[in-house]
Amino acid sequence: MATGIWRALEAGKGFEAVVRVAVERVAGLGRGIVLGLGSGRTSAAFIKSLAASEGARIVEAVIPTSLQAEAAASENGFRIGSLYNYEGVDIYVDSFDQCSFAGDLVKGMGGALAREKLLMRLARSVLLIGTEVKLAERLSSPIPLEVLPYAAPALPRLLRARGWGVKARTCEGKAGPVITDNGNVLMLVEVGVLDDPPLIERELKMIPGVVEAGVFPNRGYKVIVGMRDGTIREIT
Ligand code: A5P
Repeated sequence: MATGIWRALEAGKGFEAVVRVAVERVAGLGRGIVLGLGSGRTSAAFIKSLAASEGARIVEAVIPTSLQAEAAASENGFRIGSLYNYEGVDIYVDSFDQCSFAGDLVKGMGGALAREKLLMRLARSVLLIGTEVKLAERLSSPIPLEVLPYAAPALPRLLRARGWGVKARTCEGKAGPVITDNGNVLMLVEVGVLDDPPLIERELKMIPGVVEAGVFPNRGYKVIVGMRDGTIREIT
């Protein structure tokens, strides 16, 4: 999987195109909506474009999935809501790390997977946008895993006993593993090709100490991908 600037270059015109389509779809809802906002570069670009569009006026509040998303929504003039104020969201918009041709996803490299999966479950509709670079015939690992700090020393043993590889998710600017906004440890698990995403999701979530797994089987989500030439492909 390419990352950072290389991924942006490889995406060609797809990134701007798919962000534009997402803004149009949200604006087209045409009434006071509560918007769920995912985390990452794409979600940040989406909320910025939405703020600059007619669509901004129909958004009553944004429920973010991370400190990053909260700052992005707030800096762009949106009111921040929470699950204390709202039972869920009218539409949830986010990206993904990988999407299969069947519309199943791997998400959570940015560490927001637990809040993202919760908000997706509480959403009337889910719109996931990405570029051609993130599209794969079948999903493959690594899969992000949010783990309780108490369980972190034991988790590699439990995962390796199952035949899976595991390593800490690290990033530039922080020594040691990535710590999520929930104070948990982010790990990466290698399970190979995901032939049965719901099964892998269940198996990972059954392991004590695992808070959330970054496998997102498609549960009625709309997934659209921006191709390098600027055209849009509707995956589901
Ligand atoms: C955040 O934890 C992830 O689920 C992101 O949605 C995913 O990593 C996509 O991020 P980018 O938009 O930065 O590629």
